Amino acid sequence: MPTILKIQGGKPLKGTIEISGAKNSALPLMVACLLTDKPLTLSNVPNLADIQTITQVLNVLGVTAQENGSTRILDASNITSTTAPYELVKTMRASVLVLGPLVARFGHAKVSLPGGCALGARAVDVHLEGLRAMGATCDLDEGYIVARAPNGLRGAHFTMRVVSVGATENLMLAASIAKGQTILQNAAREPEIIDLANCLNAMGATVQGAGTDTITIEGVSTLNGANVKVMPDRLETGSYAIASLITGGDVTLTNTSLKYLPMVRETLEKAGAIFEEKDNGFRVYRNGPIGGVDVMTEPYPGFATDLQAPFMALMSVCEGASMITETIFENRFMHVPELVRMGASIQVHGASAMIRGAKSLSGAPVMATDIRAGIGMVVAALAAKGTTTISRLYHLDRGYENLEAKLQACGADVERHKVDV
Ligand code: UD1
Repeated sequence: MPTILKIQGGKPLKGTIEISGAKNSALPLMVACLLTDKPLTLSNVPNLADIQTITQVLNVLGVTAQENGSTRILDASNITSTTAPYELVKTMRASVLVLGPLVARFGHAKVSLPGGCALGARAVDVHLEGLRAMGATCDLDEGYIVARAPNGLRGAHFTMRVVSVGATENLMLAASIAKGQTILQNAAREPEIIDLANCLNAMGATVQGAGTDTITIEGVSTLNGANVKVMPDRLETGSYAIASLITGGDVTLTNTSLKYLPMVRETLEKAGAIFEEKDNGFRVYRNGPIGGVDVMTEPYPGFATDLQAPFMALMSVCEGASMITETIFENRFMHVPELVRMGASIQVHGASAMIRGAKSLSGAPVMATDIRAGIGMVVAALAAKGTTTISRLYHLDRGYENLEAKLQACGADVERHKVDV
């Protein structure tokens, strides 16, 4: 039976929220287990639908996964298949991350081509170009990418045409056990890339330069197991910081750090946010109204595209106006019609949205069209007058652990209900 979230808005969020481990880091770290026949132990893994999906993908390949709270012990000593099936890959594009490690370790891999998604075409061509540069053949066969490198991969000097988080991760994973040196140029610089480099290095790899646009990997013949803690989720952090601001609340976020959100912090400060750093997190609140700020999404360290929807919700009630330009995904304004249903004044012109701040939003039935559009709806609903119901919660459950409990602990009136269709 489908579930909806029912939010009675208008209550300032007050209290403490503990931030979970980063989904976008846990996914590639879990995939790293494929590079070794020794167990990889990961802690601070969030309990999310996407983590279950990657676990299923790994299980299909023959990986055993033990779960104990937020710890996962992954053992890829007995790989029985190198095929990641369509049924799983279609539910989560990040499944394509298994391609590089499988072809690097076993010389072959067959992974369903992810296909379209709600955010647009989202190609994987750069992943394949990089693997080809390392000596693999990559063909398309009945909807599957078939990659082969019978004699193993060899290091390469590869410059990415577009800055891609997933391609950078796929190629780092593959290069760590390729023969010789790989240099990745125009690499993504996201903190999750640094987390992956640290994990690979803990496993015995030699990865340098993660966090800059040039990553150098000296391939080694075998990797070991390791014990690694997943970094905090900076996107969950930013989402709850925005929720605190839009409701005029006062929230302390723990197990996280502002250092992962440089441009988001700067932008929110311009909009009136006050941040107080603490040992294990920070406090976020405001003393005045929310000001309108223009924003352009960009690869890290720029403003994260994944926080564009909740930021737009915030700008919907700013004093003045804001222009938000989306440069990463071509179809990432699906939340606009939903925000308009709640009384927001937003006009889209190509890749830019013009938002004129409204006095307030009003509750309405809306839907989550993807993970981040979904949190945009939650943020808007927390500040809106009246009741908002949000459907298609499976999107939110992909990326936000214990969403209602975390918000309820700060006084929000949020409930999950089963509904008949
Ligand atoms: C990751 C994040 C996602 C975030 C995105 C951008 C994970 C699991 N997901 O997704 O939350 O929104 O980064 O910060 O970490 N592109 C190509 N060819 C390719 C690969 C990408 O053209 O081979 C394009 C994409 O269509 C997109 C842009 O590059 O326009 C960035 O995509 P990418 O960084 O690869 O995003 P993901 O890794 O899929």
